[in-house]
Amino acid sequence: PELFAPERKNSQGWDTRHRPTLAKIEADRGAYKTQSWDAKPLLAVEAEAGEKDPILNPANRNDQVGTVTWATPETVTAAAGAAKVWDASPEERSRILNKIADLYEARYGELFAILHREAGKMLFDAVAEVREAVDFLRYYANRTAGDPPVGTFVCISPWNFPLAIFTGQIAAALAAGNAVLAKPAEQTPLIGWRAAELMHEAGVPREVLQLLPGAGDVGAAMTSTPGVNGVAFTGSTETARLIHASVAKHLEPGAPLIAETGGLNAMIVDSTALPEQAVAAIVESAFQSAGQRCSALRCLYVQEDIAESFLEMLTGAMEALQIGTPWDVSTDVGPVIDAEAHKDITGYIDAARKDGRILKECAVPSDGYFVPPALIRVKGIGDLEREVFGPVLHVATYKAEKLDRVIDDINGTGYGLTFGLQTRIDDRVQHVSERIEAGNIYVNRNQIGAIVGSQPFGGEGLSGTGPKAGGPLYVDRFRRHTADMSGE
Ligand code: NAD
Ligand code: ALA
Repeated sequence: PELFAPERKNSQGWDTRHRPTLAKIEADRGAYKTQSWDAKPLLAVEAEAGEKDPILNPANRNDQVGTVTWATPETVTAAAGAAKVWDASPEERSRILNKIADLYEARYGELFAILHREAGKMLFDAVAEVREAVDFLRYYANRTAGDPPVGTFVCISPWNFPLAIFTGQIAAALAAGNAVLAKPAEQTPLIGWRAAELMHEAGVPREVLQLLPGAGDVGAAMTSTPGVNGVAFTGSTETARLIHASVAKHLEPGAPLIAETGGLNAMIVDSTALPEQAVAAIVESAFQSAGQRCSALRCLYVQEDIAESFLEMLTGAMEALQIGTPWDVSTDVGPVIDAEAHKDITGYIDAARKDGRILKECAVPSDGYFVPPALIRVKGIGDLEREVFGPVLHVATYKAEKLDRVIDDINGTGYGLTFGLQTRIDDRVQHVSERIEAGNIYVNRNQIGAIVGSQPFGGEGLSGTGPKAGGPLYVDRFRRHTADMSGE
């Protein structure tokens, strides 16, 4: 494949520090502060609808954001039977993908409002989410020419990037000309439905893109239905295991499965690091998006010699975090996604408190699913039994001469998504980055927010199959390869 497309422009986004821009955002999203949306399956065939449920705001359960009519496993069978690959030319597919990006930018006020109210995304996250979705569309629009499509691709996405990842998977599958059956996460059907409507409005035919709002049962039906030829999944490692087994059992041999999954991400701060820079990077990496990023920092290693003063600075920075409703411009940390996540994470923090391992815990509003950003002492990353998907940062100290042991422990988790290093020693950057097994390595900055086209994103080991999203090889995985590989 062509490795670097000749022209690439990322979205300009919205600069929320620029007062006139902020005033325009306020006006454009303000129109949707109390609107509600009704999501339903978008199909190319008549099919019986499933049940209907309300969708509530995770920061305020009195705010009903809309309703969703669910798809059922039977809807999946009907949709798969009606699916057709996209017979438009590569140029036409490219034009329509770019048109979707333009529509997202034009309708950003509505998209921001749904992201705030359905997904609990604060303003900075909503901006990043729409930008990333637009970037995926334009980047993959540049890669529509090539081998034929695989056929019908299932795209299953998580709630934590309910627009960007939802869009990225679909855009890549469409760029290659596949038919798509897309399932947004059950927590965030409204934004997925609105995005799919915009895709249809831009010119993607109904039989090429169908939307199936549903939970795991609908996802399981999608990965086992005759007529499905490939699966793109982003979510937890546990679900990826189930999907892998289903694909092996039900789909044709060699059917592609792209799985982007969880992480136990670490950062090492040595005694030469710039403390102000490192503290800012840690706070962003661990607590932005309420820690609900696969890329988020989970385990921080601080060199023993600087630990006392460094942790004092870190806990001071945590003290300054504004925790509150996602709609407020001053909010740094919003709610977690739902009651289940709230119970799970607060239970985890309670257990650490009982053990006397909490170094810092922030105060949070009492209504809504808010979890206190917390700093928890551990001996090392081996103490983390699982990915706790919230604003919880673990911290360990290490002796300078044990650096290689720390690297071994980090690699020993089996995950390999993001990694951060804070140091001013060039040789150490070289040494550590050569030994660490992680998809995305960041030096002297935060370790979240990969930029499409510049920082292709994805992990290794338990964190994903590759190829990296937003990189030159991704769309290629959605094609049937016809090249003669015999070498003759
Ligand atoms: P999840 O695995 O619970 O759900 C993800 C999606 O899979 C949802 O749409 C869900 O309905 C569906 N699903 C559930 N069971 C299924 C089944 N048996 N068959 C088919 N589909 C099924 O994950 P989540 O809680 O929505 O998302 C958080 C997880 O996603 C975290 O582990 C996070 O690290 C990971 N994640 C990874 C990346 C990445 O790029 N590597 C990005 C975002 C999130
Ligand atoms: N791509 C997202 C990030 O880098 C997950 O934070």
